[in-house]
Amino acid sequence: MDNNIYLQDVTISFTTKAGTVHAVNHVDLNVNSGEITGMIGETGSGKSVLGMSVLRLLAANSLISGSIIYKNSDLLQLAEKELNQIRGKVISFIPQNPDAAFDPTMKIGKQIIEGFLYHDKKSKAAGISHGIGQLQNYSFHEPQKTFNSYPFQLSGGMRQRALCAMGTVLSPKWIIADEPTKGLDAIIRQQVSQVFLELKKTANSSILLITHDLRLAQKICDTVIVLYAGTVLEQGPAGKLFDEPLHPYTCGLIDAQPHRKLLPLSGMPPSLINLPAGCKFHLRCSCRKDICCLKEPALLEVNGQWVRCWKYA
Ligand SMILES: Nc1ncnc2c1ncn2[C@@H]1O[C@H](COP(=O)(O)OP(=O)(O)OP(=O)(O)O)[C@@H](O)[C@H]1O
Ligand code: SF4
Ligand SMILES: [Mg+2]
Repeated sequence: MDNNIYLQDVTISFTTKAGTVHAVNHVDLNVNSGEITGMIGETGSGKSVLGMSVLRLLAANSLISGSIIYKNSDLLQLAEKELNQIRGKVISFIPQNPDAAFDPTMKIGKQIIEGFLYHDKKSKAAGISHGIGQLQNYSFHEPQKTFNSYPFQLSGGMRQRALCAMGTVLSPKWIIADEPTKGLDAIIRQQVSQVFLELKKTANSSILLITHDLRLAQKICDTVIVLYAGTVLEQGPAGKLFDEPLHPYTCGLIDAQPHRKLLPLSGMPPSLINLPAGCKFHLRCSCRKDICCLKEPALLEVNGQWVRCWKYA
């Protein structure tokens, strides 16, 4: 039995007053263990929703179908009690927004070690020492002081790093990190990415890294998944995907980076309430053919990469 996470035909929608939001559409993915897998895509492409779905952390107005298999169990079917044994200890989710994740009335340290004390049944002293060590790992110069601080006493970047410390406190097998380097300056970003590489190497953690930072994804990821309108458009080894992107959307994302052509992608993502027929990217694609507007292409393997585009069918 492997430690991969298998998403099979995962579809997620949200019921809203304006209509049904089709946030994730028939996603099939094997997320390999022992790797850092990057998930990239524009705002609203479904990265966070997909990441949260693994531990069933979605909002109450969500509807999910398909399966998410980990070690022969479907995480979408597990009883809440069984899932609680997995949350944080086996698979942890580091959310995108530290302000919403921390209880403002509780000191940072107490929140960081809560899961550690619950799962590992260690003494409080051992928990405190472990928590302070965690803060040190995430480049806090005064870890003891931070441990005893309230969230509002830290800067946004510090809260972001404290959140990473909380999410990795139990050295979980899987870490799903949603924008863990957002708002951090270059030096701290480098240090946090180093921690992820260390976790992969020393704790044998597998990481799903959701990010807008394509340079970071290129640097530390083994595999990259490209999401658009809740659909996987491309997936492949990071080196290949960034050097020889196949999908016009991936090319657009790469060209839009400041250190590349700084050429913004034209147009806007489609409405998730009224998804377009055919290829979901066709309204913005300069390579569009007639069939693109009518029929959605399948995800096909092309030279070790997976791509959903009629150009390669
Ligand atoms: N509870 C909800 N109710 C209605 N729509 C929702 C809900 N949660 C998410 N969505 C919608 O699902 C879509 C995907 O959202 P998601 O947060 O996954 O995007 P994202 O790729 O993470 O974007 P970003 O890069 O900005 O974080 C968006 O259109 C979002 O508005
Ligand atoms: S399927 Fe057609 S519209 Fe979609 S990305 Fe490929 S060429 Fe462009
Ligand atoms: Mg997000």
